[in-house]
Amino acid sequence: MAYSTEKGIFISFEGIDGSGKSTQMAIAAKYIRGKGFDVITTREPGGTKLAEKIRDILLDNALGGRVTPMAELLLYLASRHQHSEETIVPHLNSGSVVLTDRYADSSTAYQGGGRGLGLDLVEGLNELVIPRWPDLTIIIDVPIEIGLSRMGNRRPDRLEEEGTNFLKAVRAAYLEIAGRHTERIVVVDGSGNIEKTSAQVIFTIERFLAGINRIGISGG
Ligand code: ADP
Ligand code: TYD
Repeated sequence: MAYSTEKGIFISFEGIDGSGKSTQMAIAAKYIRGKGFDVITTREPGGTKLAEKIRDILLDNALGGRVTPMAELLLYLASRHQHSEETIVPHLNSGSVVLTDRYADSSTAYQGGGRGLGLDLVEGLNELVIPRWPDLTIIIDVPIEIGLSRMGNRRPDRLEEEGTNFLKAVRAAYLEIAGRHTERIVVVDGSGNIEKTSAQVIFTIERFLAGINRIGISGG
């Protein structure tokens, strides 16, 4: 079980490949820093030495389809536990705002939805490895054609090679997860340009921070 922590502010960015979430997270980080918070950014799979090694295995095209969905899920969960204990919890405990590019909902959407392991099973297993659910999750939602076009000519990794039906299932799973957890998750339409999308992201963060102020929680 991961250490639990109630300190700090924890925000995750989610979406299909090419949705623009890394771009939006960078804009959000700058914005929140501008408000005077100490902000750290991290990503999954990765964020620690072990987790980056697991990332290399997971995204290795040479493995192709020879990874069972359950083995894949357990590797993502192993990487998440290490990332949570080594990076996320210490920064939350020191009162920082932690922004992560992908977290537990990625497993629910990709392995639960995309690979068909089921959303409930993956949410349950996520509970075993995370210190807490993010305080706010922003899903950048785009049709898969837009995601694929934004990925451009870069060589697809092992999961990106799965094709359109897989990505469609992942996107549908994200929307279902959002419907299940409306208190935590906000879906932002990412199909417009970067500025149009970031206006919605900043609005969401503003509203979230105002809510935190009202109940008297600070970054510390
Ligand atoms: P992700 O992290 O979701 O894979 P990125 O933020 O890395 O996506 O964006 C993928 C590519 O699309 C990058 O080249 C980025 O500059 C571009 N991009 C991001 N957001 C938009 C947008 N709203 N409109 C057009 N291009 C975008
Ligand atoms: P990455 O290069 O980080 O993709 P992106 O830039 O689109 O975020 O690769 C991560 C890949 O791993 C991506 O295809 C999504 C997938 N993934 C899962 O399938 N399950 C998970 O739990 C996580 C964290 C990522």
